[in-house]
Amino acid sequence: MIKSLIKPVTYLTSADFRLRFKVWRWRVMQTAVGRYILRVFYGNKNAALGKDVFGMHFRSPIGLAAGIDRNGELIDAMAAAGFGFVEVGSVTPRKQGGSPHPYLIELKGDHALLHRAQTESAGVEQVIENIKRHKSRMVVGCNIVKGFTTPDDEAPRDYLRLFRPLYQYVDYFTVNICCNTTTKSYIPTDKAEIMAILQPLFEFRRGQNQYRPILLKISPDMSDEQIDMMTDIMLETPLDGIVAVAGSTGRYGLENSAKKMHKLGRTPGTINGHPLKQRALDVVRRIHTRSQGTYPIIGCGGISTYQDVKDMLDAGATLVQICTEFIYNGGKTIRTLNKALGEEIKEGQTQKK
Ligand SMILES: Cc1cc2nc3c(=O)[nH]c(=O)nc-3n(C[C@H](O)[C@H](O)[C@H](O)COP(=O)(O)O)c2cc1C
Repeated sequence: MIKSLIKPVTYLTSADFRLRFKVWRWRVMQTAVGRYILRVFYGNKNAALGKDVFGMHFRSPIGLAAGIDRNGELIDAMAAAGFGFVEVGSVTPRKQGGSPHPYLIELKGDHALLHRAQTESAGVEQVIENIKRHKSRMVVGCNIVKGFTTPDDEAPRDYLRLFRPLYQYVDYFTVNICCNTTTKSYIPTDKAEIMAILQPLFEFRRGQNQYRPILLKISPDMSDEQIDMMTDIMLETPLDGIVAVAGSTGRYGLENSAKKMHKLGRTPGTINGHPLKQRALDVVRRIHTRSQGTYPIIGCGGISTYQDVKDMLDAGATLVQICTEFIYNGGKTIRTLNKALGEEIKEGQTQKK
Protein backbone atom coordinates (compact mmCIF):
# COMPACT_ATOMS: atom_id res chain seq x y z
CA MET A 1 0.00 0.00 0.00
CA ILE A 2 2.71 2.50 1.12
CA LYS A 3 4.91 1.38 -1.75
CA SER A 4 2.19 2.07 -4.28
CA LEU A 5 1.72 5.56 -2.81
CA ILE A 6 5.42 6.44 -2.78
CA LYS A 7 6.13 5.21 -6.31
CA PRO A 8 3.94 7.66 -8.21
CA VAL A 9 5.16 10.51 -5.97
CA THR A 10 8.81 9.74 -6.72
CA TYR A 11 8.11 9.43 -10.39
CA LEU A 12 6.13 12.64 -10.45
CA THR A 13 8.69 14.84 -8.70
CA SER A 14 12.03 13.51 -9.91
CA ALA A 15 12.29 15.50 -13.15
CA ASP A 16 11.51 18.86 -11.50
CA PHE A 17 14.12 18.18 -8.90
CA ARG A 18 16.66 16.94 -11.40
CA LEU A 19 16.35 20.03 -13.61
CA ARG A 20 16.59 22.47 -10.70
CA PHE A 21 19.61 20.60 -9.31
CA LYS A 22 21.29 20.59 -12.73
CA VAL A 23 20.75 24.32 -13.21
CA TRP A 24 22.21 24.92 -9.74
CA ARG A 25 25.25 22.76 -10.59
CA TRP A 26 25.81 24.62 -13.86
CA ARG A 27 25.58 27.91 -11.95
CA VAL A 28 28.41 26.68 -9.71
CA MET A 29 30.41 25.86 -12.84
CA GLN A 30 30.26 29.53 -13.91
CA THR A 31 33.34 30.24 -11.74
CA ALA A 32 36.80 30.44 -13.40
CA VAL A 33 37.72 27.01 -12.00
CA GLY A 34 34.38 25.55 -13.08
CA ARG A 35 34.77 26.86 -16.60
CA TYR A 36 38.33 25.49 -16.77
CA ILE A 37 37.05 22.04 -15.78
CA LEU A 38 34.25 22.22 -18.34
CA ARG A 39 36.69 23.25 -21.08
CA VAL A 40 39.02 20.36 -20.26
CA PHE A 41 36.32 17.67 -20.08
CA TYR A 42 33.70 18.87 -22.55
CA GLY A 43 35.03 21.91 -24.43
CA ASN A 44 35.02 22.23 -28.21
CA LYS A 45 38.48 22.98 -29.58
CA ASN A 46 37.68 22.04 -33.16
CA ALA A 47 37.54 25.17 -35.32
CA ALA A 48 36.18 23.10 -38.23
CA LEU A 49 32.76 22.92 -36.50
CA GLY A 50 32.33 26.70 -36.88
CA LYS A 51 29.56 28.06 -39.08
CA ASP A 52 28.64 31.59 -40.18
CA VAL A 53 24.91 32.27 -40.05
CA PHE A 54 23.00 35.59 -39.79
CA GLY A 55 26.39 37.32 -40.24
CA MET A 56 27.62 35.82 -36.97
CA HIS A 57 30.13 33.11 -36.20
CA PHE A 58 28.78 30.04 -34.38
CA ARG A 59 31.59 27.89 -32.97
CA SER A 60 29.35 24.84 -33.29
CA PRO A 61 25.98 24.49 -35.05
CA ILE A 62 24.60 22.89 -31.86
CA GLY A 63 22.98 25.22 -29.35
CA LEU A 64 21.04 25.08 -26.12
CA ALA A 65 17.29 25.61 -26.60
CA ALA A 66 15.15 27.97 -24.54
CA GLY A 67 13.93 26.62 -21.22
CA ILE A 68 17.23 25.74 -19.53
CA ASP A 69 19.03 29.04 -19.02
CA ARG A 70 15.85 30.98 -18.36
CA ASN A 71 17.53 33.99 -16.81
CA GLY A 72 20.88 34.24 -18.60
CA GLU A 73 22.88 32.90 -15.66
CA LEU A 74 24.69 30.03 -17.36
CA ILE A 75 26.09 31.55 -20.56
CA ASP A 76 29.80 31.28 -19.73
CA ALA A 77 29.45 27.72 -18.45
CA MET A 78 27.60 26.66 -21.62
CA ALA A 79 30.26 28.30 -23.80
CA ALA A 80 32.99 26.44 -21.90
CA ALA A 81 31.06 23.16 -22.31
CA GLY A 82 31.16 23.53 -26.10
CA PHE A 83 27.76 24.87 -27.11
CA GLY A 84 27.81 27.02 -30.25
CA PHE A 85 25.04 29.26 -28.93
CA VAL A 86 22.57 29.62 -26.09
CA GLU A 87 19.01 30.83 -26.27
CA VAL A 88 18.24 32.55 -22.98
CA GLY A 89 14.60 32.54 -21.82
CA SER A 90 11.81 32.60 -22.39
CA VAL A 91 11.95 36.03 -20.77
CA THR A 92 8.82 37.86 -19.65
CA PRO A 93 8.48 41.61 -18.94
CA ARG A 94 7.98 41.13 -15.22
CA LYS A 95 9.10 38.45 -12.80
CA GLN A 96 6.74 35.48 -12.84
CA GLY A 97 6.87 32.00 -11.37
CA GLY A 98 4.61 29.85 -9.29
CA SER A 99 4.64 26.74 -11.43
CA PRO A 100 2.22 24.07 -10.29
CA HIS A 101 4.03 21.12 -8.77
CA PRO A 102 5.17 18.88 -10.36
CA TYR A 103 5.75 20.94 -13.48
CA LEU A 104 8.03 18.52 -15.27
CA ILE A 105 7.21 14.85 -15.60
CA GLU A 106 9.68 12.35 -16.87
CA LEU A 107 8.42 9.80 -19.39
CA LYS A 108 11.56 7.78 -19.31
CA GLY A 109 10.62 4.89 -21.57
CA ASP A 110 10.03 7.40 -24.38
CA HIS A 111 12.99 9.68 -23.61
CA ALA A 112 10.48 12.49 -23.20
CA LEU A 113 9.33 15.12 -20.73
CA LEU A 114 5.87 16.46 -20.06
CA HIS A 115 6.23 20.17 -19.32
CA ARG A 116 3.20 21.80 -17.76
CA ALA A 117 4.18 25.14 -16.31
CA GLN A 118 3.76 28.75 -17.16
CA THR A 119 7.06 30.44 -18.10
CA GLU A 120 9.14 30.99 -15.01
CA SER A 121 11.21 34.15 -15.47
CA ALA A 122 13.14 36.57 -13.28
CA GLY A 123 11.82 39.40 -15.48
CA VAL A 124 13.60 41.41 -18.14
CA GLU A 125 15.53 43.78 -15.85
CA GLN A 126 17.16 40.95 -13.89
CA VAL A 127 17.88 38.99 -17.09
CA ILE A 128 19.71 42.02 -18.56
CA GLU A 129 21.83 42.29 -15.40
CA ASN A 130 22.74 38.61 -15.72
CA ILE A 131 23.51 38.77 -19.45
CA LYS A 132 25.72 41.85 -18.94
CA ARG A 133 28.00 39.77 -16.70
CA HIS A 134 28.92 37.15 -19.31
CA LYS A 135 32.48 37.20 -20.68
CA SER A 136 32.57 34.53 -23.40
CA ARG A 137 32.25 35.40 -27.08
CA MET A 138 29.58 32.81 -27.80
CA VAL A 139 26.41 33.82 -29.69
CA VAL A 140 23.62 34.60 -27.21
CA GLY A 141 20.01 34.65 -28.36
CA CYS A 142 17.05 35.74 -26.31
CA ASN A 143 13.64 34.10 -26.46
CA ILE A 144 10.89 36.58 -25.57
CA VAL A 145 7.30 35.82 -24.61
CA LYS A 146 4.30 37.71 -23.32
CA GLY A 147 3.54 37.69 -19.57
CA PHE A 148 1.21 34.95 -18.33
CA THR A 149 -1.48 37.37 -17.15
CA THR A 150 -1.21 39.77 -20.09
CA PRO A 151 -4.44 39.64 -22.12
CA ASP A 152 -3.85 38.20 -25.60
CA ASP A 153 -4.78 41.44 -27.36
CA GLU A 154 -2.07 43.28 -25.38
CA ALA A 155 0.63 40.74 -26.26
CA PRO A 156 2.35 42.97 -28.91
CA ARG A 157 3.06 45.57 -26.21
CA ASP A 158 4.80 42.93 -24.05
CA TYR A 159 7.04 41.75 -26.89
CA LEU A 160 8.16 45.32 -27.61
CA ARG A 161 8.66 45.95 -23.90
CA LEU A 162 11.15 43.07 -23.92
CA PHE A 163 12.77 43.72 -27.29
CA ARG A 164 13.73 47.35 -26.66
CA PRO A 165 15.78 47.05 -23.45
CA LEU A 166 17.35 43.72 -24.47
CA TYR A 167 18.36 44.92 -27.95
CA GLN A 168 21.92 45.97 -27.20
CA TYR A 169 22.73 42.96 -25.02
CA VAL A 170 21.93 39.93 -27.19
CA ASP A 171 22.88 38.74 -30.68
CA TYR A 172 19.49 37.56 -31.94
CA PHE A 173 15.86 37.34 -30.84
CA THR A 174 13.37 34.52 -30.92
CA VAL A 175 9.76 35.61 -30.74
CA ASN A 176 8.03 32.76 -28.97
CA ILE A 177 4.39 32.41 -29.94
CA CYS A 178 3.89 28.98 -28.34
CA CYS A 179 2.36 29.55 -24.90
CA ASN A 180 0.68 26.20 -24.55
CA THR A 181 2.12 24.49 -21.49
CA THR A 182 -0.94 25.24 -19.35
CA THR A 183 -4.67 25.20 -19.96
CA LYS A 184 -4.43 28.96 -20.67
CA SER A 185 -3.08 28.46 -24.17
CA TYR A 186 -1.93 31.30 -26.46
CA ILE A 187 -0.73 30.34 -29.94
CA PRO A 188 -1.54 33.08 -32.44
CA THR A 189 -1.91 31.56 -35.89
CA ASP A 190 -3.62 34.46 -37.58
CA LYS A 191 -1.34 36.47 -39.87
CA ALA A 192 -2.66 39.82 -38.65
CA GLU A 193 -2.10 38.82 -35.01
CA ILE A 194 1.49 37.74 -35.70
CA MET A 195 2.25 40.85 -37.73
CA ALA A 196 0.89 42.98 -34.86
CA ILE A 197 3.66 41.46 -32.74
CA LEU A 198 6.43 41.59 -35.35
CA GLN A 199 5.84 44.97 -37.02
CA PRO A 200 6.77 47.12 -33.97
CA LEU A 201 9.94 45.06 -33.56
CA PHE A 202 10.93 45.61 -37.21
CA GLU A 203 10.26 49.33 -36.82
CA PHE A 204 12.34 49.62 -33.66
CA ARG A 205 15.20 47.71 -35.33
CA ARG A 206 15.15 50.05 -38.33
CA GLY A 207 16.25 52.92 -36.07
CA GLN A 208 19.22 51.06 -34.57
CA ASN A 209 22.90 51.02 -35.60
CA GLN A 210 23.28 47.30 -35.04
CA TYR A 211 21.23 44.61 -36.76
CA ARG A 212 19.70 41.90 -34.59
CA PRO A 213 18.11 38.96 -36.45
CA ILE A 214 14.53 38.21 -35.43
CA LEU A 215 13.27 34.61 -35.56
CA LEU A 216 9.82 33.17 -34.93
CA LYS A 217 9.43 30.03 -32.80
CA ILE A 218 6.57 27.89 -33.99
CA SER A 219 4.53 25.02 -32.61
CA PRO A 220 4.51 21.49 -34.06
CA ASP A 221 0.76 21.51 -33.46
CA MET A 222 0.18 24.03 -36.24
CA SER A 223 -1.41 22.56 -39.34
CA ASP A 224 0.67 22.29 -42.51
CA GLU A 225 -1.27 25.26 -43.94
CA GLN A 226 -0.37 27.31 -40.87
CA ILE A 227 3.30 26.27 -41.20
CA ASP A 228 3.17 27.49 -44.81
CA MET A 229 1.71 30.77 -43.63
CA MET A 230 4.59 31.20 -41.13
CA THR A 231 7.03 30.51 -43.98
CA ASP A 232 5.29 33.11 -46.14
CA ILE A 233 5.57 35.66 -43.32
CA MET A 234 9.31 34.96 -43.36
CA LEU A 235 9.47 35.37 -47.14
CA GLU A 236 7.37 38.55 -47.25
CA THR A 237 8.62 40.50 -44.22
CA PRO A 238 12.01 41.34 -42.66
CA LEU A 239 11.76 38.21 -40.43
CA ASP A 240 15.18 36.49 -40.51
CA GLY A 241 14.39 32.86 -39.72
CA ILE A 242 12.28 30.30 -37.91
CA VAL A 243 12.92 28.12 -34.86
CA ALA A 244 11.05 24.86 -35.40
CA VAL A 245 9.69 23.48 -33.10
CA ALA A 246 8.47 23.95 -29.51
CA GLY A 247 6.86 21.19 -27.42
CA SER A 248 3.63 19.57 -28.58
CA THR A 249 0.29 19.28 -26.82
CA GLY A 250 -0.27 16.12 -28.87
CA ARG A 251 0.24 12.79 -27.14
CA TYR A 252 1.52 10.86 -30.15
CA GLY A 253 4.51 8.54 -30.18
CA LEU A 254 4.38 7.75 -26.46
CA GLU A 255 4.80 4.03 -26.84
CA ASN A 256 6.18 3.18 -23.43
CA SER A 257 4.54 5.84 -21.30
CA ALA A 258 0.94 5.35 -22.35
CA LYS A 259 0.07 3.73 -19.02
CA LYS A 260 1.70 6.54 -17.05
CA MET A 261 0.00 9.14 -19.21
CA HIS A 262 -3.29 7.40 -18.49
CA LYS A 263 -2.56 7.65 -14.76
CA LEU A 264 -1.94 11.36 -15.13
CA GLY A 265 -5.31 11.76 -16.71
CA ARG A 266 -5.89 14.60 -19.11
CA THR A 267 -3.15 16.78 -17.73
CA PRO A 268 -2.26 19.87 -19.77
CA GLY A 269 1.28 20.49 -20.95
CA THR A 270 3.60 19.79 -23.83
CA ILE A 271 5.56 16.69 -24.76
CA ASN A 272 9.24 17.36 -25.44
CA GLY A 273 11.97 14.98 -26.53
CA HIS A 274 12.08 11.90 -28.73
CA PRO A 275 8.35 11.62 -29.68
CA LEU A 276 8.65 15.08 -31.30
CA LYS A 277 11.41 14.13 -33.68
CA GLN A 278 9.42 13.08 -36.74
CA ARG A 279 7.06 16.06 -36.63
CA ALA A 280 9.99 18.45 -36.09
CA LEU A 281 11.77 16.99 -39.14
CA ASP A 282 8.61 17.26 -41.26
CA VAL A 283 8.08 20.89 -40.24
CA VAL A 284 11.71 21.86 -40.94
CA ARG A 285 11.63 20.08 -44.33
CA ARG A 286 8.38 21.84 -45.24
CA ILE A 287 9.74 25.30 -44.39
CA HIS A 288 13.03 24.57 -46.18
CA THR A 289 11.26 23.40 -49.34
CA ARG A 290 8.81 26.31 -49.44
CA SER A 291 11.55 28.89 -48.83
CA GLN A 292 13.92 27.07 -51.25
CA GLY A 293 16.64 26.98 -48.63
CA THR A 294 17.07 30.74 -48.70
CA TYR A 295 16.50 31.36 -44.99
CA PRO A 296 18.18 29.90 -41.89
CA ILE A 297 16.08 27.48 -39.86
CA ILE A 298 16.98 26.43 -36.32
CA GLY A 299 15.84 22.83 -35.99
CA CYS A 300 14.73 21.67 -32.55
CA GLY A 301 12.75 18.72 -31.27
CA GLY A 302 13.76 15.20 -30.31
CA ILE A 303 17.49 15.58 -30.92
CA SER A 304 19.60 13.34 -28.74
CA THR A 305 22.05 11.42 -30.95
CA TYR A 306 24.36 12.49 -33.76
CA GLN A 307 22.05 10.73 -36.22
CA ASP A 308 19.28 13.07 -35.01
CA VAL A 309 21.52 16.10 -35.66
CA LYS A 310 22.31 14.78 -39.14
CA ASP A 311 18.65 14.11 -39.91
CA MET A 312 17.76 17.65 -38.87
CA LEU A 313 20.54 19.21 -40.98
CA ASP A 314 19.53 17.00 -43.93
CA ALA A 315 15.92 18.17 -43.53
CA GLY A 316 17.14 21.73 -44.07
CA ALA A 317 18.09 23.10 -40.66
CA THR A 318 21.08 25.43 -40.56
CA LEU A 319 21.60 25.17 -36.82
CA VAL A 320 20.10 22.82 -34.22
CA GLN A 321 19.13 23.08 -30.57
CA ILE A 322 18.77 20.52 -27.82
CA CYS A 323 16.67 20.67 -24.67
CA THR A 324 15.26 17.39 -23.28
CA GLU A 325 18.46 15.48 -24.05
CA PHE A 326 20.40 18.09 -22.07
CA ILE A 327 18.06 17.64 -19.09
CA TYR A 328 18.63 13.88 -19.28
CA ASN A 329 22.37 13.77 -19.92
CA GLY A 330 23.86 17.25 -19.39
CA GLY A 331 27.31 18.21 -20.72
CA LYS A 332 28.09 14.70 -21.95
CA THR A 333 25.64 15.25 -24.79
CA ILE A 334 27.28 18.29 -26.32
CA ARG A 335 30.73 16.67 -26.07
CA THR A 336 29.50 13.55 -27.88
CA LEU A 337 27.65 15.50 -30.58
CA ASN A 338 30.54 17.91 -31.26
CA LYS A 339 32.99 15.00 -31.42
CA ALA A 340 30.84 13.05 -33.90
CA LEU A 341 30.33 16.14 -36.05
CA GLY A 342 34.09 16.81 -36.05
CA GLU A 343 34.82 13.24 -37.12
CA GLU A 344 32.32 13.43 -39.98
CA ILE A 345 33.80 16.72 -41.23
CA LYS A 346 37.31 15.22 -41.08
CA GLU A 347 36.17 12.12 -42.95
CA GLY A 348 34.55 14.28 -45.62
CA GLN A 349 37.75 16.28 -46.04
CA THR A 350 39.87 13.11 -46.33
CA GLN A 351 37.54 11.70 -49.00
CA LYS A 352 37.77 14.93 -51.03
CA LYS A 353 41.59 14.75 -51.15
C1 LIG B 1 11.52 22.08 -19.15
C2 LIG B 1 11.32 22.76 -20.45
C3 LIG B 1 11.15 24.14 -20.48
C4 LIG B 1 10.97 24.80 -21.69
N1 LIG B 1 10.81 26.14 -21.69
C5 LIG B 1 10.72 26.80 -22.87
C6 LIG B 1 10.62 28.22 -22.88
O1 LIG B 1 10.62 28.88 -21.85
N2 LIG B 1 10.52 28.82 -24.10
C7 LIG B 1 10.52 28.13 -25.29
O2 LIG B 1 10.45 28.74 -26.35
N3 LIG B 1 10.63 26.78 -25.29
C8 LIG B 1 10.72 26.12 -24.12
N4 LIG B 1 10.84 24.76 -24.12
C9 LIG B 1 10.81 24.04 -25.42
C10 LIG B 1 12.22 23.75 -25.89
O3 LIG B 1 12.96 24.92 -26.11
C11 LIG B 1 12.20 22.92 -27.20
O4 LIG B 1 11.65 23.70 -28.22
C12 LIG B 1 11.41 21.63 -27.06
O5 LIG B 1 11.61 21.05 -25.81
C13 LIG B 1 11.80 20.63 -28.16
O6 LIG B 1 13.15 20.26 -28.04
P1 LIG B 1 13.62 18.88 -27.31
O7 LIG B 1 12.84 17.78 -27.94
O8 LIG B 1 15.10 18.82 -27.57
O9 LIG B 1 13.30 19.02 -25.87
C14 LIG B 1 10.97 24.07 -22.91
C15 LIG B 1 11.13 22.68 -22.87
C16 LIG B 1 11.29 22.03 -21.67
C17 LIG B 1 11.46 20.54 -21.65
